[in-house]
Amino acid sequence: MLLHILAIQAILASGVFASAQVDKTQSLYEQSSNTRRQSGPGTTLQAGWYWVRAVVQPNYHKYLQTKPTNVAGTAILESYRTAGQYKIEDGQVIANTGTGGTPLYLHVEKPADFTQRTLATWFNVTKNDFGTFVWQGDALTWSTPEVKRQNLAAWLVCANQALFINTGAYAYQTPAGCADQTIHYYNDAHANE
Ligand SMILES: *[C@@H]1O[C@H](CO)[C@@H](O)[C@H](O)[C@H]1NC(C)=O
Repeated sequence: MLLHILAIQAILASGVFASAQVDKTQSLYEQSSNTRRQSGPGTTLQAGWYWVRAVVQPNYHKYLQTKPTNVAGTAILESYRTAGQYKIEDGQVIANTGTGGTPLYLHVEKPADFTQRTLATWFNVTKNDFGTFVWQGDALTWSTPEVKRQNLAAWLVCANQALFINTGAYAYQTPAGCADQTIHYYNDAHANE
């Protein structure tokens, strides 16, 4: 009888211990995912910044961002829920990474052959050294003397939602797997669908 009780106590004790461990693991996980969510400017547009989004299908109201959001990486168009905030300064597209965050700059691939049809784009902590970004109306445009473009606002969204400069004509001989888009600033307090 005594042994039986001791055994039950041991089982209970180990169960309590195990569940305490699970709780601790969960709370650490929640803390780290909260920390990640808090980095960046948040989901309310900050003064002087813009959302940037496509306005026609197949990327209607998909927004400029990285994945994970607000860190260096490939520029993509994705959900309004994870949209980044941007502005242009001195020809650079700058991403708002929140108070105290290191700003990120939108880069454009410099090809060996300037007639290359698609130029990759990505965000990183250094300034872009190839070409100049300017708003034309509300459209985000990019130009450089080295690359002859028919439409400075022509972009392509290709595999994995990656955003490319389209050095060719808009909606003409669109590269396989890509969609023609222009992208535009939007200054509502919240990004939306
Ligand atoms: C950002 O730049 C750093 C240093 O130049 C480089 O090591 C890193 O790979 C770059 N990251 C991306 C995502 O381009």
